[in-house]
Amino acid sequence: MPRLTRRQLPALVAAGLAAPALASAQAYPSRPITIIVPFAAGGPTDTVARLLGEAMGRDLGQSVVVENVGGAGGTLGAQRTAQARPDGYTLLVHHIGMSTIPTLYRRLAYDPINGFETVGMITEVPMTIVAKRNIAANNLAELVALVRRERDKINLANAGVGAASHLCGLLFQQAMNVPLTTVPYRGTGPAMNDLVAGTVDLMCDQTTNTTEHIRAGTIKAFAVTTNSRVASLPDVPTAIEAGMPGFEVSVWHGLYAPRGTNPELVTRLSRSLQVALRDPGLIRRFADLGTEPVPQEKATPAAHRAFWTADVARWRPVIQAAGQFAD
Ligand code: MLT
Repeated sequence: MPRLTRRQLPALVAAGLAAPALASAQAYPSRPITIIVPFAAGGPTDTVARLLGEAMGRDLGQSVVVENVGGAGGTLGAQRTAQARPDGYTLLVHHIGMSTIPTLYRRLAYDPINGFETVGMITEVPMTIVAKRNIAANNLAELVALVRRERDKINLANAGVGAASHLCGLLFQQAMNVPLTTVPYRGTGPAMNDLVAGTVDLMCDQTTNTTEHIRAGTIKAFAVTTNSRVASLPDVPTAIEAGMPGFEVSVWHGLYAPRGTNPELVTRLSRSLQVALRDPGLIRRFADLGTEPVPQEKATPAAHRAFWTADVARWRPVIQAAGQFAD
């Protein structure tokens, strides 16, 4: 089906040919909406998407279901979205990986930038440097010393090349100047199970996945990666104050639709996103998990596209200098 552009619409309306598109926009949403999460269930991206989907569903009066499409550092789920019908019923929640994938992956089966409409930004989540609870270190300096001593025995979990956990893990290894063996998972949800079990040693992951485990004592926290401490983890120092100057990374998340989605539907979805980000229940859960919604002005298609474009440009030279690509 040819995709309508903004310029074609007036002529098609005059010819009475655009009525179905406009009618569908007016009746939207008439059935459940799917949010694709490009990582396994139970991880930080899944947590953000499910909380957002519940709040948007309340606003739209339709159920919003999450479908986990993990693998290849979040590119399989992104590809599924880019190739979906642009009818407003398939969306994507993804994070900083949308800024790094265009450089990390040189042979993708979809356009990692032009394959999407931006709907709006959602939240920026701090990360935490965490380890299995019986690791023989009790602060970041001791952890770095241990890693340097036993670098061949210690491994680092992530969710695949391009995942936030991969990027933070890269920065952590560069800060210690110690390359580590990495163990990739389809998401940091499954990786967390192994960290709690002690079968993997370290991970750099988002507070939305680590906070409850840190509080329960099932894993050990060494630092947060923000320039000030996280209110929900007041006893965890920043990496900067713990001896890693400049170590700062937070994971922004956005909502996307396939390219060619009717602009009226994108506007409807962006308005619903903004309502959801004002939802008291969502705000409370985000705060419990160490994060907060972005300001309303960032939850718009234009602001999201501008931020994303600048972030792709920011990460491109960093990745090219590291010379580590996914394919
Ligand atoms: C990551 O980028 O590491 C992902 O957030 C992991 C996940 O959501 O499962």
